[in-house]
Amino acid sequence: MPWGLQAVLKRTKDSGYPQDVSLLAVDIVYISKETLRVKIYDAKEDRYEVPVLNIPKVKTAPQVTDYEIQIQNDPVSFKIVRNTTGTVLIDTSIGPLVFSNQYLQISTRLPSTLLYGLGEHRDHFLRRSDWKIYTLFNRGEPPKDDPTMNMYGSHPFYLLLENDGKSHGVFLLNSNAMDVAVQPAPALTYRVIGGIFDFFFFLGPTPDEVIQQYTNLIGRPFLPPYWALGFHLSRFGYMTSEKTRRVWNRTREAGIPYDAQWSDIDYMLDFKDFTYDKERYKGLPELVDDVHKAGMHYVLNFSPGLYVTNSTGEYPAYDEALGEDIFMRDINKKIILGKLWPNITAYLDFSNPKASEFWINNMITFHREVPYDAAWIDMNEPYNFINGSWESCPMGHPLENPPYQPGNDSLMTHTLCLSSHQYLSSHYNLHNIYSVIEAKTTYRALEILGKRPFVLSRASFPGLGRYSGHWSGDIYSRWDYLSSSVP
Ligand SMILES: *[C@@H]1O[C@H](CO)[C@@H](O)[C@H](O)[C@H]1NC(C)=O
Ligand SMILES: *[C@@H]1O[C@H](CO)[C@@H](O)[C@H](O)[C@H]1NC(C)=O
Ligand SMILES: *[C@@H]1O[C@H](CO)[C@@H](O)[C@H](O)[C@H]1NC(C)=O
Ligand SMILES: *[C@@H]1O[C@H](CO)[C@@H](O)[C@H](O)[C@H]1NC(C)=O
Ligand SMILES: *[C@@H]1O[C@H](CO)[C@@H](O)[C@H](O)[C@H]1NC(C)=O
Ligand SMILES: *[C@@H]1O[C@H](CO)[C@@H](O)[C@H](O)[C@H]1NC(C)=O
Repeated sequence: MPWGLQAVLKRTKDSGYPQDVSLLAVDIVYISKETLRVKIYDAKEDRYEVPVLNIPKVKTAPQVTDYEIQIQNDPVSFKIVRNTTGTVLIDTSIGPLVFSNQYLQISTRLPSTLLYGLGEHRDHFLRRSDWKIYTLFNRGEPPKDDPTMNMYGSHPFYLLLENDGKSHGVFLLNSNAMDVAVQPAPALTYRVIGGIFDFFFFLGPTPDEVIQQYTNLIGRPFLPPYWALGFHLSRFGYMTSEKTRRVWNRTREAGIPYDAQWSDIDYMLDFKDFTYDKERYKGLPELVDDVHKAGMHYVLNFSPGLYVTNSTGEYPAYDEALGEDIFMRDINKKIILGKLWPNITAYLDFSNPKASEFWINNMITFHREVPYDAAWIDMNEPYNFINGSWESCPMGHPLENPPYQPGNDSLMTHTLCLSSHQYLSSHYNLHNIYSVIEAKTTYRALEILGKRPFVLSRASFPGLGRYSGHWSGDIYSRWDYLSSSVP
């Protein structure tokens, strides 16, 4: 192939997992001198692939590369070698390759233990290699004492420092739930419950260059408006616009310079997006105007879940979303109902282009009432106070009950049933990228409003940075949390 190599792998043994794939295609694409792609997929049937990144199409391979790839037959495996030093960066012969419908496994020997990444976890930046398992599945729970528990975002990327100080990066483009087990060999094993193996290797050699090569693929971070880099005040519980105004006033009276005031969900009427409480928050539009006159900015919270009502006309945004058919649906095609601040909540399916249109139109219309400057998108793992839905999830369904359970916890814990339907695929496949799609459409809305967009998201996945920043979610006011918020 002008872009690299192609191979076909034929299965010789049963993996022990249901629905083994018998014939795999392997595409080895020389994307650039420093970036190599190895894509392993079902040679016969289409499988789910992550829809949110624009992967460059390669017509011809570069003449010179920093890497060499070696393919072995026994056991079926590959090695990636750094050309200038001979360091073996990847060697998958250390464990078997498994590729079944709901369980994919591949292992590699690592050239050192200096492994960083595999977020989001509240752990040290340097990952542990003592049989530690890092789970990647977006989870909206406040941090627990175990710093290795999975948190709001999933980033199947690591950067490894080789013994001579050179570094490389490895990105697995896969949005399914997975465990990554780091072992003392040193070695690493991916255990993934869907999609395909789509690896990108970045040869650096400096850590900066690895990150440049990585963001060249997933997109560079957005350029925030200047004011967004300043000091902001936000909390739940101001409860009225008068109280918010007093906080705004007294903070400036005290001579504390700040650039932005925020409102959490308490500004809304019954926690309904695109509304504000006209009693408690009576003067909100005037407050936002006054904040602008003082050269400052205002940020509002938005939720991906809408208040559900049976009375037409009570909440026009809900009626509209219902009419447009843009809510997530359960296995029986009924709108799946979870629990957020409004109690019974229906979740927008941002993977449906009509949901983007709805979101953008409503953000624009609401802006005519309250001229906010930026959007804080919360609860978008998506989170759910109950497990699955008000009705139980169909636990006999393979998507609810995969043969391997990343994180050892039922996946529907505090999120929606995994068998739920979305426009692009099942929630099982799309869960980890829910926030990226929401952030993208929120960014577009702010652009249309003529702002340089500033979006802040709780959940994340590679590519989110093009549209949004990220905050550390719920943390405690303790020194150890302050310290661990740095990595
Ligand atoms: C990488 O090194 C190998 C072995 O030294 C050499 O055969 C190959 O041409 C090099 N590859 C490139 C494209 O520079
Ligand atoms: C705060 O409010 C007081 C009383 O209304 C007013 O005199 C003062 O100018 C305000 N301070 C600022 C910084 O706006
Ligand atoms: C709406 O009505 C249905 C059928 O009467 C009922 O089951 C459901 O709980 C109601 N939902 C709300 C939010 O009141
Ligand atoms: C929330 O909805 C559930 C189910 O309809 C109901 O039992 C419960 O009373 C509601 N809670 C509140 C606080 O309204
Ligand atoms: C949800 O599941 C978790 C563990 O899987 C359990 O601890 C918790 O009690 C469940 N919550 C509810 C509301 O059922
Ligand atoms: C899940 O449980 C198994 C058996 O108890 C244990 O070996 C493994 O480390 C656990 N995985 C995680 C992610 O905690």
